[in-house]
Amino acid sequence: MPASRPHLALLPRPTKVSPLGGRLVLDRDTAVRALPGAEPAAALLRSLVGPAAGLPLAPSPEGRIVLALDEQLGGLGEEGYGLTVGPQALLLRAAHPTGLLRGVQTVRQLLPAEALSGGARGSGSWELPCVEITDIPELPWRGSLLDVARHFRPMDYLLRYVDLLALHKLNVLHLHLTDDQGWRMPVDAYPRLTTVGARRARSQRGPDGPGTTQFDATPHEGAYTKAELRALVRYAAERGITVVPEIEMPGHVRAALAAYPELGNHPERRLEVWDRWGVCETILGVHEEVFAFCRAVLEEVMDVFPSPYIHIGGEECPTSEWESSPAARERAAAEGLAGPAALHGWFMGRIGAFLVEHGRTPVGWAVSGTELPLDFTVMAWRDASHARAAARRGHRVVAAYHRTTYLDYVQSEASFEPVAQPGDPVTLRTVHDYEPAPAEWSREERARVLGTQAQLWTEYVRTPEEIEYLSYPRLCALADRSWSGGRGDWPGFVERLRHHTARLDALGVPYRPLDARSLEEATYASPSSGTARPLS
Ligand code: ACM
Repeated sequence: MPASRPHLALLPRPTKVSPLGGRLVLDRDTAVRALPGAEPAAALLRSLVGPAAGLPLAPSPEGRIVLALDEQLGGLGEEGYGLTVGPQALLLRAAHPTGLLRGVQTVRQLLPAEALSGGARGSGSWELPCVEITDIPELPWRGSLLDVARHFRPMDYLLRYVDLLALHKLNVLHLHLTDDQGWRMPVDAYPRLTTVGARRARSQRGPDGPGTTQFDATPHEGAYTKAELRALVRYAAERGITVVPEIEMPGHVRAALAAYPELGNHPERRLEVWDRWGVCETILGVHEEVFAFCRAVLEEVMDVFPSPYIHIGGEECPTSEWESSPAARERAAAEGLAGPAALHGWFMGRIGAFLVEHGRTPVGWAVSGTELPLDFTVMAWRDASHARAAARRGHRVVAAYHRTTYLDYVQSEASFEPVAQPGDPVTLRTVHDYEPAPAEWSREERARVLGTQAQLWTEYVRTPEEIEYLSYPRLCALADRSWSGGRGDWPGFVERLRHHTARLDALGVPYRPLDARSLEEATYASPSSGTARPLS
């Protein structure tokens, strides 16, 4: 391996890498020995590397690639692994099956990039550099949100999306399944959610202009089947990725209200699935029928998604409909609340308690960081101060500040960037520099930060190419930061990324090209000086 491949250009950067000198040759006769419990990792190695590199990697008790679970390695935690590549054999060990899955991705990255491409069938043999690696992630939640509500993506693409996350050792796919503009999860008890709510007649094109909003003339629709979603969950689990579903409430529900107007504050009103972007005024009512609806939906969601975390949205919920609804005002009074605006916290609390009763952890978008019941894990996005406020209050926190993790903003000021969410660029460096749990916080506050994640809202994102252009290389930066923490220094990251792009090329990822500017871009000023994302 040329000396110019720092840390073998592994991305994210492992905890410890010691090159040993020499090569291990893999060829068509190389076999894999999976010790008890390591079979799923062997199957993943075979399915990822086998067809792409043209290596059968047949199972054999004499195999020179050995995958082993070893409880003595408890210090590696759930996801850590140890990898030794010697001239005659490769040994991958972990205390937990998930650690082996992470190690498989490292083995993949140690191969020449061409071996990932699938164009190399039958080419014979590949060399791995001899090396000793010990690797443990810094943060347990390293996520990526994909919004399939604004623009639907068929399941075959989600599988590719998961594979790309797995390559980067990201471990949460946050699937934003419902919003004003579309409902993508089938619910047996409420079939109109997808027969009506999954289709809109047209879509806004581009951001709101001064006095003019442009629309296309094309209906947009799509919903998954439960079988597809279960297959996605399984596929992700085989790669050590949890699919966290998000069902928005009590706002961002216009598609559901188009299907079931009786769930709103004006049961007589007929609404269309929304065709605009922004924050919609129509929200759920607070009558008991609405809670029966939310419970029924979430029961089906929990049946499909085994994730310990269930996200119920909660943000951008204007309360004007409740303020002007006699029924909502009465409900607020009957519950002893200060007024209709307080129905929001009450609503989230009721649904959160329902999830807790079912053994799941509710997740919500922070409005202020301190408004949700303590059993909520808080996703802090709007203001840089909200993550710490939530942690200080005692919440588990996923740090997702929009100025550093929202990939729907452009990556630079260059004129060639695609139409995006209006706002300053979120540069590669900004993402890489984001510290989810800064050193100046107290130890307790920092310990409550589960991790971080990127968000790709898709108002302006219609195609797989656009998804991947916006996601890469910024997701590489998020992966490096969240897995490697402070070890992943910026110059080292840039150097590794220059090599890593060969892997993205081999996998056909149309990432945003690296240019001098994106690699030198100054970091954003200060996490504490951040501004709130406007409510549209
Ligand atoms: C959000 O950006 N609506 C969480």
